[in-house]
Amino acid sequence: MVVVLFIISPFLVLLGLLLFKFITAEGDFTLISKRHVKREEVEDKVFWITGASRGIGEILAKQLANLGAKLIISARNESELERVKKQLTGKHAPEGVKILPLDLTSGEDSLREAVQRAESFFPDTGVDYMIHNAAFERPKTTALEVSDESLKATFNVNVLGTITLTQILAPYMLKRGKGHFVVMSSAAGKTPAPGQAIYSASKHALNGYFHTLRSELCQKGIRVTIVCPGPIETPTGSGSKVSGEKRVSSERCAELTIIAATHALKEAWISYQPVLAVMYLVQYMPSVGFWLMDKVGKNRVEAAAQKGNTYSVGLLFGKNKAH
Ligand SMILES: NC(=O)c1ccc[n+]([C@@H]2O[C@H](COP(=O)([O-])OP(=O)(O)OC[C@H]3O[C@@H](n4cnc5c(N)ncnc54)[C@H](OP(=O)(O)O)[C@@H]3O)[C@@H](O)[C@H]2O)c1
Ligand SMILES: *[C@@H]1O[C@H](CO)[C@@H](O)[C@H](O)[C@H]1NC(C)=O
Repeated sequence: MVVVLFIISPFLVLLGLLLFKFITAEGDFTLISKRHVKREEVEDKVFWITGASRGIGEILAKQLANLGAKLIISARNESELERVKKQLTGKHAPEGVKILPLDLTSGEDSLREAVQRAESFFPDTGVDYMIHNAAFERPKTTALEVSDESLKATFNVNVLGTITLTQILAPYMLKRGKGHFVVMSSAAGKTPAPGQAIYSASKHALNGYFHTLRSELCQKGIRVTIVCPGPIETPTGSGSKVSGEKRVSSERCAELTIIAATHALKEAWISYQPVLAVMYLVQYMPSVGFWLMDKVGKNRVEAAAQKGNTYSVGLLFGKNKAH
């Protein structure tokens, strides 16, 4: 007995450590095993970021500027982009930071013009990294209650605009024989997301498109990194925090995104528990994962309607209404 215990105890310790790591993780194991940004993959490179006027996009711009990147920052609101630009510091700021106002729903001609301008800002290099970060998200409703307007707006920004921009930009990258798309998807692009059916559908669409694009173009120097964050804390917008929700900070999310991109990871998940565990379950044990989400679905929609915590384990038991 003692001998057996002696033999298995290192394994138990290891298992305990792994379990502890998993419970306290803020991303998938591959991602968190890459501890640092590869600075040489950022310095003097040109990053074009959409949705850089606030939220995660704004923080990404700040961190990349500090790491010595040249930047093109896009969103619709030009005055917000001016505000962001003023705050950027680093080797190439402010001359190496260009503002490119852009509405992803403005149609092919206007997106083509935007790509031409983006490519002309730094004629020696062109765009090295395209960070597709802009997105449209509505407050949670059931799948059947989504308005036609909301359905179209979500797909126009998250899917159609993003894909069209990619189709116009990719040929420039192919001519150079290199280019990297970093796509801000979501945990909702990997698992069911009760209350966010259309948003989830739009992110699943992005995952499908960009994993396929990589499979077609990786041998021609095109890289794709798909980032799937769970709940992230941002000052405004979709990441505004409800009390009790545990969210990864937008600073850490941006840092992990840059780590994932510079290590050329194909997909990276950024989240605390329990969302991270759900992602693992749906990916590796789908019947268990879907069973679990079926238990959660109705309760999550109700919690959202009452502005309660929509990321809690308690949803399994229907007790996450706001107090
Ligand atoms: N926050 C989270 O918890 C979370 C979780 C998972 C995934 N994500 C994803 O991470 C990304 C950033 O999220 P976030 O919370 O930082 O977003 P956010 O604060 O809502 O900001 C969205 C950004 O997209 C831009 N945008 C919206 N519509 C646009 C359009 N038609 N054309 C061009 N730009 C447009 C906005 O700028 P303008 O209004 O000036 O155009 C803004 O800069 C999104 O892809 C989101 O889906 C976020
Ligand atoms: C852009 O942002 C500014 C400052 O936050 C705001 O006052 C203005 O209404 C916004 N413009 C548009 C077109 O949304």
